[in-house]
Formats: sequence, C-alpha cells, structure tokens
Amino acid sequence: MGVVRQLRQISADDEGVDIAFRADVHAGLSQKQKAIPARWFYDATGSALFEDITALPEYYPTRSETDLLTRHAAEMAAAIGPGRAVVELGSGSSTKTPLLLDAIEPAAYVPVDISGDFLRGSADALAARFPGLPIYPVEADFTQRVALPREICPLPKLGFFPGSTIGNMVARTAIDLLRNWREALGDGALLLIGIDRVKDIGVLELAYDDPAGVTAAFNINLLERINRELGGDVPVENFAHRAVWDDVHARIEMHLVAACDLEFTIDGQRYHMAKDETIHSENSHKYGPRDASLLLRAGGWTPVATWDDADPAFALILAEATAFRSAP
Ligand code: AVI
Repeated sequence: MGVVRQLRQISADDEGVDIAFRADVHAGLSQKQKAIPARWFYDATGSALFEDITALPEYYPTRSETDLLTRHAAEMAAAIGPGRAVVELGSGSSTKTPLLLDAIEPAAYVPVDISGDFLRGSADALAARFPGLPIYPVEADFTQRVALPREICPLPKLGFFPGSTIGNMVARTAIDLLRNWREALGDGALLLIGIDRVKDIGVLELAYDDPAGVTAAFNINLLERINRELGGDVPVENFAHRAVWDDVHARIEMHLVAACDLEFTIDGQRYHMAKDETIHSENSHKYGPRDASLLLRAGGWTPVATWDDADPAFALILAEATAFRSAP
C-alpha cells in the first residue's frame, strides 16, 4: 500500500514563504517582550537539529519515552486494540512510531507535520518498513484545524502525540488544541500523549542548555531562518542562547539574548534591541500527575491509563474522547 497521497495545508506567498511565519515574526518582534512561536523552529535545518537534540545524553525525554513504548508495548496494544487509524501530531522523523505501529496492528497511518521535506522522508521510510499499511501524510500545522484524509473517516482513530510537545503550548492553547483534536478524531477516539514531569531544576536546565551547544544552535537557527526566508539582516552572532526554569509557570523558557545594543531590518521594517533584551522563543511546560489529568479533561479527554518512567520522570498517558453528558 505505502504512501497513498500527500496533502498540503500550508498557505505560502509568491516566494514560497509560509504567510503565517512572516506575520508571526513581525507581530512577535513588535511586542514589548519580543516573542516568536516555537513552531517556527522546524524548517529543514531546525528539524534536523531537533533530531540531534534527541540523541544528546542530557536530553532525556526521547530516551524515556522510547523506553516506555518498548517496555509497555503489549499493555498499550491491549488497551488500544487493533484496526485504528493512527494520526500522529508533529510526526517529525517518526522515530518512535514503528514501536507503536508494530504493537497495535493499525488500519492506516496519518503523520501530520509542518515540515514537508521531513514528512516525505519519514513517510517513505515507514512505507518501506510497513508495506501493507496505507499512509496518508498531511503537511500542516497541527496547532490549527487540519482536514483529515477522507479515506480514514470510517475508521476508529488513535491520536498519537509523543515527545511532550503539548508542553510547548501555554495551557489555554494546549486546551484549544486538545479540544480541536477531540472533535477531529471523533467519538470513540483514543489519544496516546507524552507528558514531561516536573523534576530537579539542574536536570531540566541541562536538557535545554547542553554543553555541546546543539540546543543553542537550534535556538539560533530561528534567527537564521528569518534571514534566509524573510531576507532579514539579523546579526545572529550577537545573540546568545538562554534556557531557564520558571517555577511560577512550571516551565523551561528559552530566549535569544542580545549581547549588545543592536538593530536589524526584516521586510523593510526596522527593529531595535537593547543589550540583554530577549526574544522569547520557547516554553516547555512540565506537568505533575494531577495537572496533566486536569489539562486532558479540560481538553475533552479522560485519562484511562498512565505509564510512568521514574528517572528522569516522564509519562505516556492514554485517554479516551470524553462522551458528552450534562454534569455539574
Ligand atoms: C518538541 N519539544 C517537545 C521539545 C521540548 O523538549 O520542549 C523542543 C525542544 N526545545 C529544546 N530542546 C527540545
């Protein structure tokens, strides 16, 4: 069967630049606290750098989640059952996907990712590994409403949202996303989601500021992408990477810090930054068990099983689409 057809749901301008990227950069740099949404990290270079991050000894989430999927595959398969269309949000290189697909006998696989090149490569690799499985890649921003391929309409669905990517959204956006996907996946759907837990600050900060500088390069690539795609002249060498734990919000924040007073132009628009001023580029929220459960319930999903890794703490939670009922 293999890759059946790739859908593209991205609006690009005449130069092939994602319209939402340009708008987000200008809106974000015009705020008092400059900020650019983390989803713009993932052009081809950023996606490749993220893959390098997942192999770092300090970056535990990928290892912990892979370990959970490997150790508990049989229990997960029993809870999920065969014959579902697996819809993976932010599939990237889909490295953990074979562990799940091997275990559960799916009826179809729909990887959804914003990086088209990456999506094609990983869909082809999975097609070679699972020749009988229909694969429908969708190039789209999974934080927005996504139209699913009509072929999977009649099938029961499993949303697969690994990597603790939900943590990259503030609670309100995370709940909007969970509710959107509750609607898109429909009654009877299940969701298997990776959640990173709150833990020792030293472990967290090292995971986001590794000594080899890979996470710094990933952060700085956002500025390089602005220069490449929007014709900017951002003096990239005058920015430093910063990752700090914010205890009030229970999150790691990543920033791009101006090393000196500086100016740059993007699309003819001039921007100034004072020394030590920052561009906030990412949040990575961490959740305790009750917080995670509340988040899922608020998004229309009822947790039914949790697989926890103790050290460093990370969880995979299986939740079912909450049926509507009138309740206090
Ligand atoms: C994709 N996401 C879950 C990663 C995280 O851990 O928040 C992105 C990342 N940023 C820096 N390192 C990894």
